[in-house]
Amino acid sequence: ALKVKDEVKRKRELALLGGGVKRIEKQHQKGKLTARERLEVLLDPRSFSEYDMFIEHRCNDFGMDKEKYYGDSVITGSGLINGRPVYVFSQDFTVFGGSLSSVHAQKICKIMDQAMLVGAPVIGLNDSGGARIQEGVDSLAGYADIFQRNVLASGVIPQLSLIMGPCAGGAVYSPALTDFIFMVRQSSYLFITGPDVVQSVTNESVTQEELGGANSHMTKSGVAHFAYDNDIDTLLRTRELFNFLPLSNKDPTPIRECDDSPNRLVHALDTVIPLETTTAYDMKEVVHAIVDEHDFFEVMPDWAKNIIVVGIVANQPKSMAGCLDINASVKAARFVRFCDAFNIPLLTFVDVPGFLPGTSQEHNGIIRHGAKLLYAFAEATVPKITIITRKAYGGAYDVMSSKHLRGDMNYAWPTAEVAVMGAQGAVKIIFREGKNVKDKELEYIDKFANPFPAAVRGFVDDIIEPNQTRKRICRDLNLLAGKHLVNPRKKHANMPL
Ligand code: COA
Repeated sequence: ALKVKDEVKRKRELALLGGGVKRIEKQHQKGKLTARERLEVLLDPRSFSEYDMFIEHRCNDFGMDKEKYYGDSVITGSGLINGRPVYVFSQDFTVFGGSLSSVHAQKICKIMDQAMLVGAPVIGLNDSGGARIQEGVDSLAGYADIFQRNVLASGVIPQLSLIMGPCAGGAVYSPALTDFIFMVRQSSYLFITGPDVVQSVTNESVTQEELGGANSHMTKSGVAHFAYDNDIDTLLRTRELFNFLPLSNKDPTPIRECDDSPNRLVHALDTVIPLETTTAYDMKEVVHAIVDEHDFFEVMPDWAKNIIVVGIVANQPKSMAGCLDINASVKAARFVRFCDAFNIPLLTFVDVPGFLPGTSQEHNGIIRHGAKLLYAFAEATVPKITIITRKAYGGAYDVMSSKHLRGDMNYAWPTAEVAVMGAQGAVKIIFREGKNVKDKELEYIDKFANPFPAAVRGFVDDIIEPNQTRKRICRDLNLLAGKHLVNPRKKHANMPL
């Protein structure tokens, strides 16, 4: 028995060293933490309990039988973040470049299955050279086993992916199926095919960083939701986001004690809307002023800046006048569906002059993509509160969580204008050849550019002073906590993709 005890100790010590001191040093030289160090930052102290530390890969080809590391190339287990449970995997680049062997996949699948049984989120730390080349198709099978679980877990437990090194080829699809992707600037990249293949196929010369670094995915592709400068920031910010998330779709949204009174009046909002209706203002000021303790965690801050999402969806007049375009529609739609799946109420601030015109938008499918946002709001059964701060024009008015899409409380500020379009455009169409265009415009503004046409029809439930907004929202959220709404039963819907 003593011998076994020693053997356990020895093997544990070896497992803790992963691919060995030299490779750990190499990892540090790249400015990266090791897989285990990352878990220490992510999880509460001493909360990690590990699975499968003694597992070994089973490949005998290419001399692999002589090179084995206890635990193989991924560390898996459960732990706590601020006292709440989470399952984690952390790929170990020091063991065969963190490449995915069949036991590596098996370890990940084990914690995913357990997370589904328990109802706790999964956080994956990705740092891997892809499929374990020596294992061939066994490794590909491993990826597919993970993808299948990602899909079944979607909407049941929150899934977060951190990209902290290479993630290429088939490996990208597991993160792509999860709810949020974090990247580390300069040391992580995500792409389907790397720069060499790109060069040989399309003759484009591009660096890894340009092709799939954090900057590209935050500003161009919209693949990543958050990016930070180093491993530690990324892990600490992940803890922060985690605090906002429920553990599963059966778990209530976390409620945080705070000293910010629900009755706080926000007088600054009374003057936030510029006198000139075409002048921009920063919708983030509105959001900041209203939320508890001014604390909000913005999703995708650098992509489709014309829409802001935070459990809150808001048009941003400071970017493209707050128009809805393809990217804004997709960004908001995915977020609305995340919130709905996890019982997070939706707060929508509307100042939208319409959908963005142009051949590029039309030919790239704004109809299809805009429909996603419409679909997402219409399908959502969580409490929905909407505030029209200024413009709510045309189809975009309908889309932005309008009363007609089962909105629970829809408010207008006195500056709201709910209309088919702006006065100039409208007058041009109705009175094509007309004289006295200016008079007609004033007549139109008088009739439509105010909240009354919507209010007399009950399309907004009330017209409120901006300073009352926080107070009203807090009261509504309290009341709406008891809301119960169920959509018709179906296998699944056919949402526009
Ligand atoms: N399968 C097996 N071993 C792998 C591997 C893989 N897919 N990717 C990397 N490794 C091993 C390397 O052999 C090396 O082993 P060593 O420590 O014993 O020398 C170790 O991981 C580190 O790789 P290295 O190439 O030295 O690191 P790097 O930082 O210079 O480059 C990559 C990292 C990911 C760019 C590079 O390893 C690579 O291109 N890997 C293959 C990617 C791929 O095509 N994967 C399959 C498709 S999904």
